[in-house]
Amino acid sequence: MRMHDQIHFCPPARVVIGCGSRSQLPALLARLGYRLGVLVTDAFFSGQTPWVREYVEAAAALGIETVVFDGGLPDPTTTLCDDATRDVRARLGGRPADHVIALGGGSNIDLAKAMCVTLPAGRPVADFKGTMPAAPDALPLIALPTTAGTGSEATPGAILIDPENATKIAVMDNALRPAIALIDPEYTYTCPPRVTADSGIDALTHAVESYLTLDSFDFARDGHPDPGYSGRSSLTMLFAREAIDLCARHLLRCYHDGNDHEARVGMAYASHYAALSYGSAGLNAVHGIAYAVAGLTHKTHGTTNAVMLPYVLDALRETRAAEMLDIARLFGIAEPDTQRAVLQLPAVIRDLVAQLGIPANLKDFGIAQEELPHLTDDALAVTRLAKAFPVPDVAAAYANIVQRAWQGVLAADDESGEVNGREIRAEPARKLA
Ligand SMILES: NC(=O)c1ccc[n+]([C@@H]2O[C@H](COP(=O)([O-])OP(=O)(O)OC[C@H]3O[C@@H](n4cnc5c(N)ncnc54)[C@H](O)[C@@H]3O)[C@@H](O)[C@H]2O)c1
Repeated sequence: MRMHDQIHFCPPARVVIGCGSRSQLPALLARLGYRLGVLVTDAFFSGQTPWVREYVEAAAALGIETVVFDGGLPDPTTTLCDDATRDVRARLGGRPADHVIALGGGSNIDLAKAMCVTLPAGRPVADFKGTMPAAPDALPLIALPTTAGTGSEATPGAILIDPENATKIAVMDNALRPAIALIDPEYTYTCPPRVTADSGIDALTHAVESYLTLDSFDFARDGHPDPGYSGRSSLTMLFAREAIDLCARHLLRCYHDGNDHEARVGMAYASHYAALSYGSAGLNAVHGIAYAVAGLTHKTHGTTNAVMLPYVLDALRETRAAEMLDIARLFGIAEPDTQRAVLQLPAVIRDLVAQLGIPANLKDFGIAQEELPHLTDDALAVTRLAKAFPVPDVAAAYANIVQRAWQGVLAADDESGEVNGREIRAEPARKLA
């Protein structure tokens, strides 16, 4: 308990987790009275796995008709969303769908989430950009994540690319949170190593960033009665800590061996627990700067987060020392001097990033030094994330982080070079009860 917390926690109405749990979905939806649905996915799942056909047939046997849209693409655009809406509405022939199912990674879930608001009246998704004055009329979403992961199955937002100016726009309201999050870890078994690494470091970033973010009692809600994000609390930190522990144990394992099913299950839980944390607490500098890095480099969401994470952590050693010590212990840093343990954490995370085959500094990402001031300004312009960074001078901190990230230098490097070569331990010192 933390005396001053102001909790506004908004999880999915139903969370179903378990290997093989996908087989329960048709009966659950039939019991909830659904009759006509739209399944949003991509060609990999409709062509290379039996999951779409199996679901559609089992649902049909229970009286649920499903229109399948399998044109999902990585990092969906507003154009894709509007085209998909037109296509599906034409195939529905004027009949109102009563639910939407998303099968895929964060990209397909975000596309489906946006279609929950565009399908009812066929309006363009741009109409729903930014803060909405009232909760929108949204179809219920059933999210089936196949990566571990973005956690989009538990968050209020969909991120789409606006091709007009190549920026990411957010469609965000608690009405868009999935009604059902069904996490079947078996869906992730087919993820190739690159997808496993990128999505896995995304899950770790969500957990770490939300564990260290602004407190709920300091978070400016700007008078919003139903905020999507509202700062960390004892409740969100519970999930974040567990997610960090699971990532420390399982992320490298399933990257190195995709058939390590125990590690796959561990990361499926880690991803969802991280989402239950950041989906209410919110995020800050890692994602804020990563959006600007993605704008310049067009690298994936996970890799742009990964490259920033060590340097953002380095900047929080003073204001979040106790929590960073917790994380250091979860990553198996046994150094008895607590300050040194905290100092070592960013370097251990940087090594983890490198071991996942991701460049560990902005120079290796292909960013030129002259681009750094512009990149810092772009990151600061994402004010909803910048305002949640728990340091006294956010602008100065962002500029310093970007500079250090470009050079690839951490405070631990100034103190001693030895942590650089440190091996990440898959098993942290603390065991789960
Ligand atoms: N709304 C949110 O809260 C939120 C949060 C974080 C990220 N995102 C968004 O999520 C997207 C990234 O999602 P992602 O990292 O899950 O990747 P992704 O959904 O973009 O998928 C990447 C590729 O992996 C493939 N893939 C996915 N699951 C697979 C599986 N089980 N087996 C084989 N191939 C598989 C996909 O077909 C795709 O080609 C970005 O667009 C990002 O903006 C959204």
